Amino acid sequence: MNQQPIGVFDSGLGGLTAVKELQRILPNEDIVYFGDTGRVPYGNRSRETIQRYAEQDVAFLLEKHVKMVIAACGTVSSVANAPANLPIPFTGVVAPTAEAAAKATRNKRVGVIGTTATIRSGSYRTALRKIDASIEVFERDCPLFVPLVENGWISPEETVTKLVVERYLTPLKQAGIDTLILGCTHYPLLRPFLLETLNGGVTLIDSGRETALFAANELRKLDLCNQPNRQGSSLFYVSDSTEGFQQIAEIFLGCSIQHHVGRIDIERY
Ligand code: DGL
Repeated sequence: MNQQPIGVFDSGLGGLTAVKELQRILPNEDIVYFGDTGRVPYGNRSRETIQRYAEQDVAFLLEKHVKMVIAACGTVSSVANAPANLPIPFTGVVAPTAEAAAKATRNKRVGVIGTTATIRSGSYRTALRKIDASIEVFERDCPLFVPLVENGWISPEETVTKLVVERYLTPLKQAGIDTLILGCTHYPLLRPFLLETLNGGVTLIDSGRETALFAANELRKLDLCNQPNRQGSSLFYVSDSTEGFQQIAEIFLGCSIQHHVGRIDIERY
């Protein structure tokens, strides 16, 4: 048993998809979340910059005495090296997500959407092919998705969002995929738009959710879970203004996080 919190980080809001799932499956765990809202997006930056940002994000979480670090960011997981000599367990999103997609596909035609850096890295393609070399992978970077999510353009009446989703996803639909990896943790917030465009028959694999399930299993295996009879709480830190984050995070998490959001200077780490 271990009473320390679980550390989760992302370049912005996207990692909340993992937090939401962790809160559901491990309600007795405390969570410390860092969203690097002052430097988002990571997805169009160089490998060196993403590596440096990821190291700073991990250093901040270590200062919070977390017992595990989850890089709930497709870009970091695809491009940066896992931190060397980390004294606690660490996971990114690529391996758990690829496993789930390989299990889900029936026709072995899997689509992957992600940031430009993620798609350029080929991380999901490599992971899928390692599991099953007969899987055909169809990739598409969707650089406009993250700004749409970070600006909260996610309610069903947003015509611009609908058009952008159609533009990116139509070629994947035409390729006959039956499974689509949401290779960026922001994308589940666009789920209704994605489903509408794909028009049935395609299983969406949510990288935040799959990674949370994987992390929970790891904690159980390593006997690092918290006491069962307690209610966990979550603290959120960002590197830019707390208000905008709080507003969208609350819609997404479905609960108030007022008094639980703080701002930090990530360049100190
Ligand atoms: N959350 C990031 C990811 O999963 C996307 C946002 C960004 O580009 O920083 O790739």
